[in-house]
Amino acid sequence: MRLLLLAVAWASYASIASAVWLDTNNETTILEATSQVAEGLLNYYQGNTYGGTIGMFTWPYYWWHAGGAFGSLLDYSYYTDDHKYDDLIKQALTYQVGEHYNYVPLNQSTTEGNDDQAFWGFAVMSAAEHNFTNPEDPKLAWLALAQAVFNTMSSRWDMDHCNGGLRWQIFQWNSGYDYKNSVSNGALFHMSARLARYTGNDSYVDWAEKVFDWMYGVNLLTEGEEWFVYDGTHAPDNCSNVTKWQWTYNQGLMLAGCAYLWNYTEDEKWHNRTLNFLHSARVFFYKKSEDAHIMYEAACQSPTSDSYSCNQDQRSFKAYFSRFLGLTSILVPETYDQIRRWLVDSANAAAYSCSGGSDGHTCGLSWTNGSWDGTYGLGEQMNALEVMQNLLVKDRAPPLTADTGGTSIGNPAAGYAAAKTDAEPLDLHAKDKAGASIITAIVGVAIIGTATWLVI
Ligand SMILES: *[C@@H]1O[C@H](CO)[C@@H](O)[C@H](O)[C@H]1NC(C)=O
Ligand SMILES: *[C@@H]1O[C@H](CO)[C@@H](O)[C@H](O)[C@H]1NC(C)=O
Ligand SMILES: *[C@@H]1O[C@H](CO)[C@@H](O)[C@H](O)[C@H]1NC(C)=O
Ligand SMILES: *[C@@H]1O[C@H](CO)[C@@H](O)[C@H](O)[C@H]1NC(C)=O
Ligand SMILES: *[C@@H]1O[C@H](CO)[C@@H](O)[C@H](O)[C@H]1NC(C)=O
Ligand SMILES: *[C@@H]1O[C@H](CO)[C@@H](O)[C@H](O)[C@H]1NC(C)=O
Ligand SMILES: *[C@@H]1O[C@H](CO)[C@@H](O)[C@H](O)[C@H]1NC(C)=O
Ligand SMILES: *[C@@H]1O[C@H](CO)[C@@H](O)[C@H](O)[C@H]1NC(C)=O
Ligand SMILES: *[C@@H]1O[C@H](CO)[C@@H](O)[C@H](O)[C@H]1NC(C)=O
Repeated sequence: MRLLLLAVAWASYASIASAVWLDTNNETTILEATSQVAEGLLNYYQGNTYGGTIGMFTWPYYWWHAGGAFGSLLDYSYYTDDHKYDDLIKQALTYQVGEHYNYVPLNQSTTEGNDDQAFWGFAVMSAAEHNFTNPEDPKLAWLALAQAVFNTMSSRWDMDHCNGGLRWQIFQWNSGYDYKNSVSNGALFHMSARLARYTGNDSYVDWAEKVFDWMYGVNLLTEGEEWFVYDGTHAPDNCSNVTKWQWTYNQGLMLAGCAYLWNYTEDEKWHNRTLNFLHSARVFFYKKSEDAHIMYEAACQSPTSDSYSCNQDQRSFKAYFSRFLGLTSILVPETYDQIRRWLVDSANAAAYSCSGGSDGHTCGLSWTNGSWDGTYGLGEQMNALEVMQNLLVKDRAPPLTADTGGTSIGNPAAGYAAAKTDAEPLDLHAKDKAGASIITAIVGVAIIGTATWLVI
């Protein structure tokens, strides 16, 4: 009996011999696994080859994906101490800042929303918190860039509808301009919380409070038995009609924002909110067995089959969720054990899924089946990378602040001058306009097609 079991185990090991191998208690294997996955991620980057654009990933990945992916690679460099991509990351983060040093480059104006800008903002915020080598030009200092993102986003706070809130889109000509959503507002909340802790400037706490209260007021956040974050609400209806889809990254944005605020203010309110969002985050973990809770994107992925309807954006959300869980576990130490268990189970499951493609270690979208599901892409690689590298959070120093050794030079007024001109309509060609609305329409249809997932 025992012999037979061994034979079976050997056979299945042999068949995945080139797959990513992970032992979550052995740092060496985590370093090897993340290194393989990061390499796979960079297969989608051709910024330095002829015809490529620095800081952009290959089609069909948009500008925002790149902000997300460089944030993942930056954390990779920090958590693993493998610095071979540092120059590439620095080059990308500085190349894409845009004409006004605020991550609103003119040639992204057919697609860029508040949320897109924010994902580049998180990357440079993380660079400041990890003391990633700053560019020499003070206008490009990581903290100043993060402040420019905050300043331009907060300047778009819109009192004309719903008594506040950010719209999804920055530019009127992009569809989705009428939508006030949780990722844009949650991102402003999250940036405010991190800037507050880093700089010690309480104006950012005031902003975080304001955004949280507004989101709660229009029912984008629920409170009580469960603390959920819903997708968004429509400005023309005075935000009375909430779209109740739940995404991992939105839960993570709010969760980690609360964790930063608790860590900085020590106000019990933020501690409670952290624990509440964390408790409700369990809906994104499939209980495969008593001791295996595996992360999945519940609104567009089935945990019991390989079927999914997640679009390219949604296919990367587990990456940010993992990142925000890791940060939370450090900033609110009593959450560490719970989060660690989730990350260990999910990282183990992800490693099994990273057994596809011609290289034998391409990662899939679904982690619940113990094998590769046949999918591949930038999002799939990012998800696996983040869930694995966040196993290392406790082996590294917590995010720095200006008082604990962070050296990035800030500028509290960065980006303000540009805030006005960015909002002015551009002379867009009809072709681009159509392009943008087609893209948004496709995304919209994909979302409507997928998300009938109901609360529990
Ligand atoms: C950790 O993993 C490495 C690489 O697989 C292996 O060589 C080493 O013996 C392992 N260490 C322990 C303590 O198991
Ligand atoms: C965006 O503009 C920059 C110059 O500001 C240019 O180098 C880059 O290639 C453009 N990116 C795209 C995707 O067109
Ligand atoms: C619109 O919504 C805001 C926020 O919920 C509320 O304060 C305001 O009274 C509402 N206005 C109208 C006209 O319903
Ligand atoms: C604090 O942050 C606010 C909001 O960005 C800014 O206006 C103010 O100048 C900052 N104060 C200091 C002392 O940096
Ligand atoms: C709320 O929005 C949904 C989807 O956009 C729409 O079908 C529904 O009719 C709206 N309800 C109200 C009361 O406006
Ligand atoms: C935080 O939660 C505890 C325990 O549920 C409760 O007693 C306390 O009043 C809460 N504090 C705040 C500020 O909500
Ligand atoms: C698990 O993966 C195998 C191999 O790809 C597939 O045949 C099977 O249908 C999957 N099962 C589930 C429950 O997803
Ligand atoms: C803030 O985070 C640090 C770093 O992990 C931790 O040592 C400290 O206890 C946290 N502060 C609070 C109030 O939880
Ligand atoms: C941060 O980086 C600067 C410049 O490279 C260095 O002098 C400083 O020691 C670093 N601080 C920490 C806390 O690592």
